[in-house]
Amino acid sequence: MKTKITELFGIEYPIIQGGMHHVGLAELAAAVSNAGGLGVITGLTQRTPDDLAAEIRRCREMTDKAFGVNLTFLPTVNHPDYPGYVRAIVEGEVKVVETAGNNPQQYVAALKEAGVKVIHKCTSVRHALKAESIGCDAVSVDGFECGGHPGEDDVPNFILLPRAADELQIPFVASGGMADGRSLAAALSLGADGINMGTRFIATREAPVHENVKQALIGATELDTRLVMRPLRNTERVLRNAAVDRIIEKEAALGANIRFEDVVDEVAGVYPRVMKEGALDAGAWSCGMVVGLIRDVPTVKELIDRIVREATGIIVGRLARIVA
Ligand SMILES: Cc1cc2nc3c(=O)[nH]c(=O)nc-3n(C[C@H](O)[C@H](O)[C@H](O)COP(=O)(O)O)c2cc1C
Repeated sequence: MKTKITELFGIEYPIIQGGMHHVGLAELAAAVSNAGGLGVITGLTQRTPDDLAAEIRRCREMTDKAFGVNLTFLPTVNHPDYPGYVRAIVEGEVKVVETAGNNPQQYVAALKEAGVKVIHKCTSVRHALKAESIGCDAVSVDGFECGGHPGEDDVPNFILLPRAADELQIPFVASGGMADGRSLAAALSLGADGINMGTRFIATREAPVHENVKQALIGATELDTRLVMRPLRNTERVLRNAAVDRIIEKEAALGANIRFEDVVDEVAGVYPRVMKEGALDAGAWSCGMVVGLIRDVPTVKELIDRIVREATGIIVGRLARIVA
């Protein structure tokens, strides 16, 4: 497949694995890149820039293909050493960075000077245009259905993607709700040059997470996600569990008076317990509505090959026949 995204990143298929806290380790990133997509290591999962440098080296031992690093700029309890992480990326000769969250402007120039391509993930056309104006090479447009932080505008991808296509000069990928060849064909039809997937990649053999997590995704439906932290303007789409129900009760009870401290037990330090230990109820963890489309745990290569085969079949088969 050839799109502006495959050309930009030097990859075979326009399929990116989005950064995922405590999921985007070298094993998954390398598997995605080896299968022809773009794998991404999640920068902040590594506690220090030195740890990130080691993870980059580990990934490079597992693949000779291009891979990226995600740098997430979110309101966090501690203050990560972003300049240190950027240094680790540049010195590690990583060629792509996926930024997300707050405006990455402060770091874009340094990354670009070092020859690193920047793809910024955002949830609105105005933020996508801002990313374009500060020199990002591409954007990931994350619709309301996405796992993680969908922003506060609640615009689903059937509207957001064509809006982005109408406004942007730089290429973009569709993110949120992407699972299979139908998603890829639809995203391309709506003007995107590829797809970014999070939740779907967790249910793969190589994803370095506890089996309980993969089985939870297979058992869940599209009705099983919830939005939490909206009153804090830090909305996150998560898989419903006992901790999530507690957050929702607190949000209802405290209303506009709620503070981050009120939910900190349910949201801070949760990921290692869920992803490593399989303690599914340890707190709130991100999951997209696309969970309703996940029914198996293939290898990453099986998943990517299947997506490409299905999308190609739709484009040259079903769609071509409709207009023949
Ligand atoms: C468990 C999980 C953890 C995530 N962690 C991050 C993160 O640390 N940084 C980030 O930019 N995006 C994060 N995301 C968002 C994904 O990169 C991606 O944008 C999103 O999952 C796309 O929606 P989908 O799940 O419908 O594919 C996370 C998503 C999930 C499911």
